[in-house]
Amino acid sequence: MIEPHPQPDWWPTSWQTRPALQQPKYSDSQALARAVDELSLLPPLVTSWEVNELKRQIADASAGRRFLLQGGDCAERIEDCTPSSITSKLKILLQMSLVLIHGAKKPVTRVGRFAGQYAKPRSDDQETKNGVTLPSYRGDLINRPAFTLADREPDPQLLLRGYERAALTLNFLRALVRGGFADLHHPEYWDLSFAQNSPMAGEYHRIADTIGESLRFMENVLGVHREEIQWVDFFTCHEALHLHYEQAQTHQAPHNKGWFNLSTHFPWIGMRTAQPDGAHVEYFRGIRNPIGIKIGPKADLDTVKRVIDIVHPDNEPGRLTLIHRLGHQQIEAVLPKLLEAVHSTGRKVLWICDPMHGNTHVTGNGYKTRRFEDILSELEQAFDLHTANGSMLGGVHFEMTGEDVTECIGGARGLTELDLARGYRSEVDPRLNYEQALEMALSIARKMRR
Ligand code: PEP
Ligand code: CO
Repeated sequence: MIEPHPQPDWWPTSWQTRPALQQPKYSDSQALARAVDELSLLPPLVTSWEVNELKRQIADASAGRRFLLQGGDCAERIEDCTPSSITSKLKILLQMSLVLIHGAKKPVTRVGRFAGQYAKPRSDDQETKNGVTLPSYRGDLINRPAFTLADREPDPQLLLRGYERAALTLNFLRALVRGGFADLHHPEYWDLSFAQNSPMAGEYHRIADTIGESLRFMENVLGVHREEIQWVDFFTCHEALHLHYEQAQTHQAPHNKGWFNLSTHFPWIGMRTAQPDGAHVEYFRGIRNPIGIKIGPKADLDTVKRVIDIVHPDNEPGRLTLIHRLGHQQIEAVLPKLLEAVHSTGRKVLWICDPMHGNTHVTGNGYKTRRFEDILSELEQAFDLHTANGSMLGGVHFEMTGEDVTECIGGARGLTELDLARGYRSEVDPRLNYEQALEMALSIARKMRR
């Protein structure tokens, strides 16, 4: 691994000298300082070894030898830290990855939007209902969704509650994976009970059986050791939006040089906070994690290049992932120019498509939703546009859940706007439900095989 230059004038707190967008306004700054101090003394959630391993896998993916699957809730909820919710998240991620391994014919790295995806950027600082104006809900790390002044007041103690729930989530996930739940020999452990009647069940089980046969072939005929392929691993990611939270969990590791954000393996900068002179870019400049940056359709290309110079000066393999979220109607016009601009920097990056955030609309009956067909269309275009422009799509990023919600419309089950009222649970963006997520994976696996 190449040794990047130490970043001059950088400190976990140096972001505080820059304009920080999308930060909550706490009325009691002493209480915030106490919470941040307390958080900074608590143990890390992940280790620098794991972080470096993910960086190595991302480097592999940017060289075309791996594929990255990133997904989970738009906004994780503290109250959803339950065994069934956590196992569902793991199951859908495992099932989708199995389908993608089959489609891509390469290993898949799983990165869950979980164990810390608790802070949300909002387009408006305030929300007005029936003539009452209150601060917007910004995620469970900051305030609560109920529409009362007390719930919407940012509460520094929630930083600790979020960290604790992230730790509990991760603890259970690690135990499941270590305990054999993620054993590739037993994909039947990952089946979700309500999914047996799904239109996708047959195709999925055929793929699971094929993978089981390939495993047995490798073991029995090629003599590949069971231990070498038995376990799947997975990583965590979240939008590193709340900079006091991220700063508090930024540590130096005894055996790896530099500073690491040890609240997650893979933090990303959201579309709204990626200004070259802003606090988020300043913070990300100094950490050694592999990092992501979201890029929207209105991004200025010179600005993107400046940000790349700042956070990716050494062209370190695996360091930078660019996640484009352009929308199915705009991707064709925008992506080729973006690819050319990034190519001109001479830096290598991993390209991922987030087909969710450019395809959101509000229905006549007031629900924020996304059409399955728009999401798939953006993804299919992404694969083709990368290939046509001498680049390569190395991963996908979804908002999804292992549960039976009705938040996105379309898909094999043909959900319509009228179905949204039945199982709409997200406080922020609409997620693909279990069936839609699996169908999406099957569709892109077919696309990759073509
Ligand atoms: C998100 O991933 O939930 C999000 C807010 O994305 P973006 O920054 O791309 O809008
Ligand atoms: Co979202």
